[in-house]
Amino acid sequence: MTKNIAVIRGDGIGPEIVNEAIKVLDAVAKKFGHTFHYTDLLMGGCSIDANGEPLTDETIAACKASDAVLMGSIGGNTTTSPWYKLPAHLRPEAGLLKLRKSLGLFANLRPSVLYPELRGACPLREDISEKGFDMLIMRELTGGLYFGDRKTEPVDGVMTAIDTLKYDENEIRRIAVKAFEVAMKRNKKVTSVDKANVLDTSRLWRKIVTEVAADYPEVTLEHALVDSTAMQLVRNPSQFDVMVTENMFGDILSDEAAMVTGSLGMLPSASLNETKFGLYEPSGGSAPDIAGKNIANPIAAILSGAMMLRYSFDMNEEADAVENAVKKVLAEGFATGDIMRDGCKQVLCDEMGSLIAERV
Ligand code: IPM
Ligand code: MN
Repeated sequence: MTKNIAVIRGDGIGPEIVNEAIKVLDAVAKKFGHTFHYTDLLMGGCSIDANGEPLTDETIAACKASDAVLMGSIGGNTTTSPWYKLPAHLRPEAGLLKLRKSLGLFANLRPSVLYPELRGACPLREDISEKGFDMLIMRELTGGLYFGDRKTEPVDGVMTAIDTLKYDENEIRRIAVKAFEVAMKRNKKVTSVDKANVLDTSRLWRKIVTEVAADYPEVTLEHALVDSTAMQLVRNPSQFDVMVTENMFGDILSDEAAMVTGSLGMLPSASLNETKFGLYEPSGGSAPDIAGKNIANPIAAILSGAMMLRYSFDMNEEADAVENAVKKVLAEGFATGDIMRDGCKQVLCDEMGSLIAERV
């Protein structure tokens, strides 16, 4: 098959980890007889530097014209980078949010797996980590606080800021359906996370998710409050299978879920719309402090490539090959600095990419 992939390397460690993802995709293309064409696009801080804005209409159009988007990461140090002196709508993150909205990417899938080889890197107590876990956070991505009206203005002489949290039933229903569909292919359990003891949006969320659940009698549905879920994630993460939640809660819980696996550098994500189209990026950030040093962990980007193969291209065998190559390299004891443990061999970002590509 021939596929056109839009590539947004972005800022910070983005360019170096995306290079390794492409190295692995090229190994897949060679082994399975596919052709992947890559189109480089700017977004985030690098686009601000080149074009004066974080996302141009040309970049949006080029993404739409492609079969899928592979992304690294965007943004810089929010206290020192000049990008954060700009008005909010011209900062790097505004580009990413606009891209998600323009492409209709409402469903963000963030798997979080504790690999047996990495139990030693898990910050939790051994009696918790030894149970392992394999969960998937289904984060709503184009609604809620991120996209509600906001303003900062004086009210009666007092400077006041307002952000609006809004969800309609259709937005909730479509993400709930995605969560139950994915749960049917996994362990058939959905935990819906909300703050229904306080928020109206959460009470509507609970009602609609419960309605959707009626169409999936085989799936067990559980409702949980977000504060309690944050606690359960470190107390007993093995209880979770699919977790579905609104945008802001999903942002926070997915970083927490990632960290309990041992490193933010391990976890991929897929952002999908109603079609096969998707944007694939690591769950973690641009890590400007280690950018350009060739020490970042490229596994999240490589596994994002595997998700692209699986979800956008229906190449399941190819995706398995990448995921197995990652497992193999970990089992052989290779590690980047972030997941380095006793007895392992520390490698650089590009070495890790080559090791995985060789094992595809
Ligand atoms: C993420 C990031 C983004 C978000 C930022 C960069 C806008 O933290 O993808 O989780 O909050 O969604
Ligand atoms: Mn985040």
